Amino acid sequence: MPGRPDTALPGPGSPAAAPAVLPPRPPRPGIPMVEGTIDGIRVSVPRGTTLLEAARLCGIEIPTLCHHEGLPAEGSCRLCVAEIRGQLAVSCMFPLRDRDFRAETGSPAVMDARRYVLSLLVNRAPKAPRIARLAEEYGVAPDPRFMKDPDGCIRCGRCVRACRANGPEAIALAGRGFARTVTGPFRKPPEDCIGCLACALSCPTGKIAFSEKAGTRKIWEREFELAPCPECGARVFTREQIGFYGGQASAVCPSCRRRLMATELRKAAAYEAPGGPLLLKSV
Ligand code: SF4
Ligand code: FES
Repeated sequence: MPGRPDTALPGPGSPAAAPAVLPPRPPRPGIPMVEGTIDGIRVSVPRGTTLLEAARLCGIEIPTLCHHEGLPAEGSCRLCVAEIRGQLAVSCMFPLRDRDFRAETGSPAVMDARRYVLSLLVNRAPKAPRIARLAEEYGVAPDPRFMKDPDGCIRCGRCVRACRANGPEAIALAGRGFARTVTGPFRKPPEDCIGCLACALSCPTGKIAFSEKAGTRKIWEREFELAPCPECGARVFTREQIGFYGGQASAVCPSCRRRLMATELRKAAAYEAPGGPLLLKSV
């Protein structure tokens, strides 16, 4: 069924659909709650919660491409449209403010709008698996008349926001219309890139290519040396990344960091237990 492609969350009507009346979300201090229905499911959320968040709380999955929970919303792909007060709204950017709101995520108008948006996106990135899957679900095919050198980028800016959130701000969207593209300053390989892969891993189409071989990582036409983890020797972070975040602490690879933290927690628990200091020897 179209409209449920991104996660395994159940939708309305599916066997494991959310209950028709949801327990209200815990209020945030000083923020009033607003109540309404989404696809007939009653929900109560703190004022300002986006329609997308509220729908997900109801177990209703709205397809998204440019949205990422860890990044500021930008509303650039327009795929997450829903209907509220008889109007189409971009759900990832639409804050619920009114009492008794009533929203629909699968009305004929929503489906038509989503199909139209997908028909544009699939021309830009016909080979991106996620977009190809959505296009198939919604019965949308690429139209060769509008496929002007599909380069696999839908200009959603997620890579740029991920790079900004990580700190370097090495890339940006430059230009207009079909010439708009993600690039470094002056359309050159970004000098401030630290090779962290935030852009590539957050891209919904897989447009940003990178490779790793023999202790080096290549991305944005640049080559980075990967520093060995001081615990296990695995090469995960680039030297530029470690330097950017201030030295040695982040040089320990994620799995060693988890192991070291678990050891520390076990030590703390043993210390607290009866006869603690003796138990510590076995940790
Ligand atoms: S490269 Fe990927 S994340 Fe960046 S704008 Fe293009 S599609 Fe979006
Ligand atoms: S996910 Fe909402 S506009 Fe892209």
